[in-house]
Amino acid sequence: MRMNVGGLNLHNVELRRSAGAPQQLVKSGLPQVAFAGRSNVGKSSLINSLLGRKKLARVSSEPGKTITVNYYEVDGKIYLVDLPGYGFANRGKEETKKWSALTQNYFEENDALKLVLQLVDIKVGFTEDDRMMLEYLNYYKVPYVVVATKCDRLNKTQLTESARRIAEDPLLRPGTGIILYSSVKSIGRDELWGMILKTIKG
Ligand code: GTP
Ligand code: MG
Repeated sequence: MRMNVGGLNLHNVELRRSAGAPQQLVKSGLPQVAFAGRSNVGKSSLINSLLGRKKLARVSSEPGKTITVNYYEVDGKIYLVDLPGYGFANRGKEETKKWSALTQNYFEENDALKLVLQLVDIKVGFTEDDRMMLEYLNYYKVPYVVVATKCDRLNKTQLTESARRIAEDPLLRPGTGIILYSSVKSIGRDELWGMILKTIKG
């Protein structure tokens, strides 16, 4: 596992901020790469995998439990931002309101946001909630790539077929990149870091 990527020392990482209210969000300073997706799709696991840590970002046994925006500062150079998951069926009205307020505000006038990694479970494909999210990202012209998660759960034939279906979805902005990932097997790690670094360095 490489712990130095593109000059970033991955031993030097910390949870810098956990924002539970819009006024706690960070919109300037270090460039941000945000992780969006359904609850349970594997956002926190992906962050841990990229950073080569087992338990830095909390992997939920109770999906959708915490509604916070978590900023992981990497070597004083970038933030990896773990956004609260959506599509959690048992979430109450108050919690749903909190999620919307926080998420919408995060995307609004955020000059520091450079790239969104939109996660989709390779076995599930895009859900209705994912579609709303994609429409939102398209509308506000937020740059994004799709990361298909849990790729270790399919065999090669299934993987190719599922990836094709996701890539050909008409809702995706033309030219959108898709990265096949497994946090369990670290598949896609170098490729995704390459994309992140390219975006940050311009
Ligand atoms: P919320 O924080 O609730 O929004 O969920 P999350 O998107 O952060 O998902 P999380 O990383 O907590 O992972 C959810 C479940 O999926 C956990 O049980 C993980 O172990 C599992 N998981 C995550 N990534 C992978 C993967 O690449 N392969 C497999 N097989 N399981 C995974
Ligand atoms: Mg999580």
